[in-house]
Amino acid sequence: MTDNQWRHRPAELAALLPAGFTMGVSTSAFQIEGGTQEGGRGVSTWDAFNHQKGRILDGSTADVATDHYHRYPEDVALLRDLGVDSYRFSLSWPRIQPAGRGPANRAGVAFYDRLLDELLAAGIRPMATLYHWDTPIELAGGWLNRDTAYRFAEYTFLAAEAFGDRVDSWITINEPASVTLSGYALGVHAPGETLLFDALPAAHHQLLGHGLAVGALRDAGVTGGVGIANVHSPVEPAGDGEEDAAYAALFDFVHNRIFADPVLLGRYPEVPEPFEELLSVFSEIDPDDLRTIGAPLDFYGLNYYFPTRVAAGAGGSASPDGTAQAMGSLPFHLAEWPEFARSGFGWPVAPEYLGVTLRELRERYGDALPPVVITEGGASYPDAVSTDGSFDDRARIEYLGDHLAAAASAVLAGGVAEGVELRGYHVWSLLDNFEWAAGYSQRFGLVHVDFATQDRTPKASFRWLQRVLESR
Ligand code: BGC
Repeated sequence: MTDNQWRHRPAELAALLPAGFTMGVSTSAFQIEGGTQEGGRGVSTWDAFNHQKGRILDGSTADVATDHYHRYPEDVALLRDLGVDSYRFSLSWPRIQPAGRGPANRAGVAFYDRLLDELLAAGIRPMATLYHWDTPIELAGGWLNRDTAYRFAEYTFLAAEAFGDRVDSWITINEPASVTLSGYALGVHAPGETLLFDALPAAHHQLLGHGLAVGALRDAGVTGGVGIANVHSPVEPAGDGEEDAAYAALFDFVHNRIFADPVLLGRYPEVPEPFEELLSVFSEIDPDDLRTIGAPLDFYGLNYYFPTRVAAGAGGSASPDGTAQAMGSLPFHLAEWPEFARSGFGWPVAPEYLGVTLRELRERYGDALPPVVITEGGASYPDAVSTDGSFDDRARIEYLGDHLAAAASAVLAGGVAEGVELRGYHVWSLLDNFEWAAGYSQRFGLVHVDFATQDRTPKASFRWLQRVLESR
């Protein structure tokens, strides 16, 4: 038994969670649905990207993924068995509005109608993300084109009209930082652009899309709460030198600050020295855009996976999704955290930095920070199969137990992030699924998926989480 084993005992962990805390799991449409050519669905940038040679580590596509499009009743039964309060999923924009403009596609709407009704019948509160990276390919220029923000707001209005009576929480955009940096700056995600700092207009247009979508949801009179899901990674310089500090500030700026500050404070942060020229796009922003982007939210969605250490110069070890390799031409790299264990992806397992993230949110945004919901957290591990054929993923139990305990203790009286109103935690992910550029090589699920047969088998972590939920 390790020293921290107590934290993983379900009853003790459950007792640490704040009163009324929401526990859920997360997925996204492109990663689980499959059925990409069914029900009149349009083509997304990710459909095109994952069919291009050399883009996906194992050469796979998400054409079938976990076949959730057909198997959703089985997946809702798993959610019910798990005992979660909330299920976060995403609506596929090209399923609802195939060309990214025009009227709603009836068959697409009908699919989510069925899913929502099934969830509600199971007593599970639906949290719907409007955009989890699957941009309709017909929208020329994608997020580099300001018009996409207006198209997104129109699509949002259609979704709000169709589902506004049943969705408990709305999330406009999932991780605009990842779309900007992985999709437009480094090219490891769709649409595969390698624009480096010239990718930054994609950030502003997504944020504008977010703000316009908040307006569309309010106009449509949805009954659920409205938020965004931003990924945060607390950033530290690797060494004591000035250069490491400057690049760490630059990374914090492009990864965290430019996505949170305008949403929560209605302004972009001050550009760190000496990068004024590189980041000059932020000096020409229309104040009306910022008013739109800063529209009040009911909650702030936080995705937390790991902290980042930044060092000057090229370097960094290769990562399964190609990020480190794609950063090769930049004057800084992401350094190692030798003191922490690593997940299957090679990411440092650092639960205390979830507390640091919550503390930073409180310090940076103070009273402007709405209640926080952790909308994603989890880890990929290769599956350990035990003799009876079950999946004994103890590392995931430790990861989740440590992170839940860290989050809950951070916001207690005397905790590092006391004062933050933390409302919930959603585990990424319910199922093993299509992990973007890493294909099916990284498994994040509480439920194992055999991708040849689509058989679903709950792992040890599923049974453990079930006991945590029952112990409340
Ligand atoms: C994304 C998920 C992804 C997970 C693990 C998050 O950044 O929202 O779609 O699967 O990280 O990489």
